Amino acid sequence: MTFDFDQVFDRHNTGSTKWSRYPADVLPMWVADMDFAAPPMIIQALQKRLEHPMVGYSVAPDNLREAIVADSGQVRLARRAARTDLPAGVESGFNMALKALVQPQQNVVVQVPNYPPLRHAPGHWGLHKVELNFDTQPDGTYATPLDTLSQSLQGGGALLLSNPHNPLGKAFPREELQAIADICLEHDAWIISDEIHAELCFDGRKHIPMAALSPQIAQRTITLMSASKAYNIAGLKPRS
Ligand SMILES: Cc1ncc(COP(=O)(O)O)c(C=O)c1O
Repeated sequence: MTFDFDQVFDRHNTGSTKWSRYPADVLPMWVADMDFAAPPMIIQALQKRLEHPMVGYSVAPDNLREAIVADSGQVRLARRAARTDLPAGVESGFNMALKALVQPQQNVVVQVPNYPPLRHAPGHWGLHKVELNFDTQPDGTYATPLDTLSQSLQGGGALLLSNPHNPLGKAFPREELQAIADICLEHDAWIISDEIHAELCFDGRKHIPMAALSPQIAQRTITLMSASKAYNIAGLKPRS
């Protein structure tokens, strides 16, 4: 299957969020939404589905869950996951998780810089947010300040993790994930792990899902993944 990365599409007046926000002469580069066509096999699958002209409420078929489990090397993670749900998006998912799991007196830790909706999420539920700056290492890389993380999660709560990290591009190494998880387990805090960029690791970087570290960590982790970034299909929101 060949992909055409050269064709230029005019997306004005197509209902595109990216291309509707600013005047026509502004080149919008504010959102991770590429101007390439979706992969041909995805377009073909959508066309095939539409041969049946009913688009009422739908359920996720078993083979969709099986495909998620089997796809992209995530098998170990999915086997460890207690259950698989299909929220309307990753942003909805981390907001729902916060609402469901964190008590009003507990902290929600967010590393900064970070994807703005992750930083805003605790405020939607009146939860107390602690923003944690990364430590800059002598080699220019960024690391989680473990002592401050531990202090911030006294009394439980949750860590909102972004891995691979947006915007740093950091794929968290196993040792750092393990140290973060140990702190969260020690304080009975939840790990809400946004792994939407899992499949976009280049230059030798490797994505390690937090929940793949151990069954105990999987029990404390909500993992949020999506096909939207890797396949550039952000507008196709699933419904369970
Ligand atoms: C780190 C991160 N999480 C979540 C999202 C949005 O995910 P969704 O469209 O599934 O809500 C984005 C989109 O750019 C993102 O960068």
